[in-house]
Amino acid sequence: MTGASPSQAPMPTGNPRLEGLTDYPFTRLAALLAGVPPRANLEPLSLAVGEPQHTPPALLTAALQANAHLWGRYPPVAGTPEFRAAVADWLERRYALPAGFVDRETGILPVAGTREALFQLPLLTVPEHRAGRRPAVLIPNPFYAVYEGAAAMAGAEPVFLPAFADTGFLPDLDALPPDLLERTALFYLCTPANPQGAVADLDYLRKALALARAYDFVLAVDECYAEIWDRAAPPGALEAARETGSTAGLVVLHSLSKRSSAAGLRSGFIAGDPQLLQRFARLRSYSCAGTPLPALAAATALWRDETHVEENRRLYRAKVDAADSVLAGRFGFYRPPGGFFLWLDVGDGEAAARTLWQEAAIRVVPGAYLSRPDADGRNRGRPYVRVALVHDAETVARACERIVRLLG
Ligand SMILES: Cc1ncc(COP(=O)(O)O)c(C=O)c1O
Repeated sequence: MTGASPSQAPMPTGNPRLEGLTDYPFTRLAALLAGVPPRANLEPLSLAVGEPQHTPPALLTAALQANAHLWGRYPPVAGTPEFRAAVADWLERRYALPAGFVDRETGILPVAGTREALFQLPLLTVPEHRAGRRPAVLIPNPFYAVYEGAAAMAGAEPVFLPAFADTGFLPDLDALPPDLLERTALFYLCTPANPQGAVADLDYLRKALALARAYDFVLAVDECYAEIWDRAAPPGALEAARETGSTAGLVVLHSLSKRSSAAGLRSGFIAGDPQLLQRFARLRSYSCAGTPLPALAAATALWRDETHVEENRRLYRAKVDAADSVLAGRFGFYRPPGGFFLWLDVGDGEAAARTLWQEAAIRVVPGAYLSRPDADGRNRGRPYVRVALVHDAETVARACERIVRLLG
C-alpha cells in the first residue's frame, strides 16, 4: 500500500466501449444550451423529450391500488399469465393474427420499458465473430440513441443506414450489400420511426424479414409508436411473419409509454420467435429487474382497453393539425404518418436550437444529435431539428408560430 490519498488514487481502468460512446443526445443538448440564457419573462417549454403529457388513464391507478398487496413479491421474468394473455389478445386484434400465432406461454415477455430490452438485444444476438469478421448491427440513421449504445457495448459495429427523404425516411433495403448482410447479427428497424414519423408498409416489412431469414440475423422491430398514427394504423412486422406461418428470426417491441401516456410505469413487451425469447429470458434472469406485479396488473388492464388509446390519438391528431396550420409549406413540413415528432429541415439544426432557446425558451433537439455521418463524412441530419408534439394543441400552435417567426 502506498500512502496515496483517495483523491490522488488513479481511476480504475474503465470499459473503453463506454468511453467511446458519443454523449447521449440530451446531454449534448444541455451542453449546447448551457450558458445561453433565454430572454427574461418566458416560460421554458421543452419540445425536446418525447414524454407524453396526457393524464394516464384512471384504470392504471385503480389497478395499481387493487394490487398493492403484491409490492412485496419479486416479479417473475416471464410476467404473469394474465399479462401475456392480454398482450396476445391485443396483438391478435391489432394485427389480425390467427389465435395462438404468438404463443402466450413462450412468445411474449414483459420488459421494464422497451429501452432496456432494446439495449439487451445485442447481448443476446451478437457473437464474437460473424462470417469471420466483426459482427454488424444495422441501425437506421437518424435513430433512437439506445440502438447505437447497445451495439457498441456488445462489441458489434453499429452500421448506420441512411433514412432521409430520398428513401422515404426508411433505410433502402435494396442497397444493403451482401458482404454487410453476411456479418449482420441484428437489424433494428423502427416503425413508426423516431424521429421521422415514417411508417414501413407491409411490403417493406416482408422484405426486411426475408433478408433476416436469408442471412440468419435477428430482425428487431421497434413499434413503440404503433398506436399513435394520423390517417391509417401502421402495419406490424408480425403481419409479415403471419404470411410465412412463423415468427422465426423476428421480435417486435411495444410500450405503454406512448400508447397509454404511462412513461413512468416502465412497461412494455417483446414478442415473437419463442426460441429467441427463451434465450432472452435466460439473459434477463441474470440481468434484469422484472416488472413489479402491481405494474404488470396495471399493464394488463391497459392492453385490454382501447378507449383511452383512441382518445390519445385524437389529441395527437389535434396537435398535428395545429402544427400543420402554421408550418405547412415551410421547413419541409409533412404530417408524420406515425408518432408525435416533427422532423423539420431548418438549415442548421444546432443554430436553430440555440436561437429557439435564446429567443423563445423553446427546447428542440438538433438533428445531428440523432444521426451519424455517412461514409463521406457528411451528417445528413445536421439541417434538421426534432420537435416533440406532446403539449396541448394550443401550446403547439404557439410554439410553431415562434419557430416560424424566428427561423422562417
Ligand atoms: C423509438 C423508441 N424506442 C423505444 C423507446 C423507449 O420507450 P420505453 O422504454 O418508455 O418503452 C423510445 C422512447 O422514447 C423511443 O423513442
